[in-house]
Amino acid sequence: MKIINTDFIYTPNGFVQNKAVAFTGTIQDIDTLETLKKKYPDAKVIQTEANSILYPGFINTHVHLEFSANKTSLQYGSFMPWLDSVIKHRDDLMGACDNNMMQKECEEMMRSGITTFGAISSFGNELEVCEKTPQRVVFFNELIGSNAMYADMLYGDFMERVKASQSCKKSSRITPAVAIHSPYSVHPIILQKAVNVAKQNDLPLSAHFLESQAEREWLESGSGDFEAFFEKYFNTSTPVTNIEEFMHAFDTYPTHFTHCVQATKEELNYLADKGHSIAHCPRSNRYLGCGRLKIEELNLPFSVATDGLSSNDSLSIFDELRASLMLHNDIPIQELSSQLLQTVTADAADILRLNCGKIEAGKLADFAVVTLPEAPKREEELALWTILHTKAVSQVYIQGEQYV
Ligand code: BEZ
Ligand code: FE2
Repeated sequence: MKIINTDFIYTPNGFVQNKAVAFTGTIQDIDTLETLKKKYPDAKVIQTEANSILYPGFINTHVHLEFSANKTSLQYGSFMPWLDSVIKHRDDLMGACDNNMMQKECEEMMRSGITTFGAISSFGNELEVCEKTPQRVVFFNELIGSNAMYADMLYGDFMERVKASQSCKKSSRITPAVAIHSPYSVHPIILQKAVNVAKQNDLPLSAHFLESQAEREWLESGSGDFEAFFEKYFNTSTPVTNIEEFMHAFDTYPTHFTHCVQATKEELNYLADKGHSIAHCPRSNRYLGCGRLKIEELNLPFSVATDGLSSNDSLSIFDELRASLMLHNDIPIQELSSQLLQTVTADAADILRLNCGKIEAGKLADFAVVTLPEAPKREEELALWTILHTKAVSQVYIQGEQYV
């Protein structure tokens, strides 16, 4: 048993003071330090630095580790030139991204307090790193392929990857999962088969959806920037699905949709009705010129996520939260700060169906300790000061073990 004592604890009921947390691999008890010491006399007491706040470990629900080699190769600014640059540089970027590089990015995420991440995997290349990293990883095996001619082959490869992630050692903290690349890039027949695999095996399910205006135009009318793209690379000028048909494919299974920046209110209401959620990637959306997700109008759960280094400059969750504060500049800053912290803790855990993300008895003992540079003057500003001042967290625990 260990007892950790900080100045504040971030709980589902807000920040609390004068309490400590007793834990093993899970949270056992929350009470005053004196009471806990009496109750657990053999426990090791961890006294953190002054002005520290105990948070549940942060959760980044959407990242692409395989693209970690990108620094300046991919073209930012608008979606289609970016996608073209992905096709052009994909092989070089994949070749340059070895286990060492991906492991460094896992460590970088850890320094920002991320104890769980959702890894979107196109090829399965990052499985070994995700098995070794101490973090929890929801391993989203991604299905891609709009051309019916290759669909069976691509589906077969996808199933092999799903099986490989299902046979990981239990100690690796990997949850196997399924990702659909997007409506424009996955043929409806294999899409439905993959959704069924998720459903039958109770695997988390995710899909990129309505990221760009170009995607919307292509799905609605088979025109716009995607028309030339599909003619050039796939010798076709007809989309394989439309917005409605794609959404309906997920009707019976809650799915984590990434981006949704270009979804209408009606479409968002439909997703909400079906119990879905959104991964909101503010820097990725800004860098690819996709627009701003109107989070103030959402009536479904959402997480804030980094996306990959293919459309970002870091995998730090705090860099992402600071960017969120800037992008959503009309939302009152204190209110937004509190909401953002909830999206990367309790809400993200609910979305990924994991027993973490909250400091509450019975939850997994995944923690990030944030240390403010001085004593906070007003308690109602703790969320904002946390986001603005944290470049790195001071301690990280996963299942009760310290890693930072
Ligand atoms: C496809 O496989 O159909 C595809 C892949 C990437 C972008 C667009 C389509
Ligand atoms: Fe993504």
